[in-house]
Amino acid sequence: MQIHDTIAGLRTALAGAGRIVFVPTMGNLHEGHIALMRQARAHGDTLVSSLFVNRLQFGPKEDFDTYPRTFEADCEKMAAAGGAHLFAPDEREMYPTPQAYHVQPAATQADILEGEFRPGFFRGVATVVLKLFSIVQPQAALFGKKDYQQLMVIRNMVREFALPIDIIPGETVRAADGLALSSRNGYLSAQERAEAPRLYRVLERIRKDIQAGEPDVARLEQGAMAELRASGWIPQYVAVRKQVDLQLPAAHDSGLVVLGAALLGSTRLIDNLEV
Ligand code: PAF
Repeated sequence: MQIHDTIAGLRTALAGAGRIVFVPTMGNLHEGHIALMRQARAHGDTLVSSLFVNRLQFGPKEDFDTYPRTFEADCEKMAAAGGAHLFAPDEREMYPTPQAYHVQPAATQADILEGEFRPGFFRGVATVVLKLFSIVQPQAALFGKKDYQQLMVIRNMVREFALPIDIIPGETVRAADGLALSSRNGYLSAQERAEAPRLYRVLERIRKDIQAGEPDVARLEQGAMAELRASGWIPQYVAVRKQVDLQLPAAHDSGLVVLGAALLGSTRLIDNLEV
């Protein structure tokens, strides 16, 4: 795998690379990233990944400075997963001057759920992803369903700007006890790690209840929030939404997704399940 830290170097190396398929990451790779990279190989001739911890998507009180940086191990994993090129710029290369132009997704999509608790997050994500797309110029790019709202925002951005890129979703990879793999799981103490799958379990119960015909989703959401609270979590939201735009469903709507976010100690976990 070739590693590039400049835009010019990457562009030269990618000349004549055929159909480029792209997996952007912030590093600290786990099996979820690796599955995405393996899946990506079927969608292009040349697999390009990126590793850049994007300051723009972190709030002032979030974990930008402490976000795990594991460059050597990530390179090994990316190479083993079939990556041909890795773009790993530093901040001076990505943002040589403070980024003055931004992609501002619609408030109806970016200020709800994650956006309510992480103001500016989707603006930072959409801005860096558009910039990475412009640098790598892929024909296809993969994003995990674990970050369901991020996937929706990127799909909509690609459609609205008519970018010639196929956005391909990757299934969430879970530990045997159901916990969705995440770079932030490493922050959990042993006791918290044992408790963490509860978030998956409460979402799974809501999914089953809806599938069994329970019409009162508000009651299900409140029950899940209460269980999390009673087990020592600080839940931020548990919400049943439409898959297509994450807006509130009407009675009898199908194509739903149940999403949740909660703090366990100081670690913020998110998860979702399609219904
Ligand atoms: O999902 C992530 O790791 C990041 O949000 C992304 C898409 C790499 C943008 O920084």
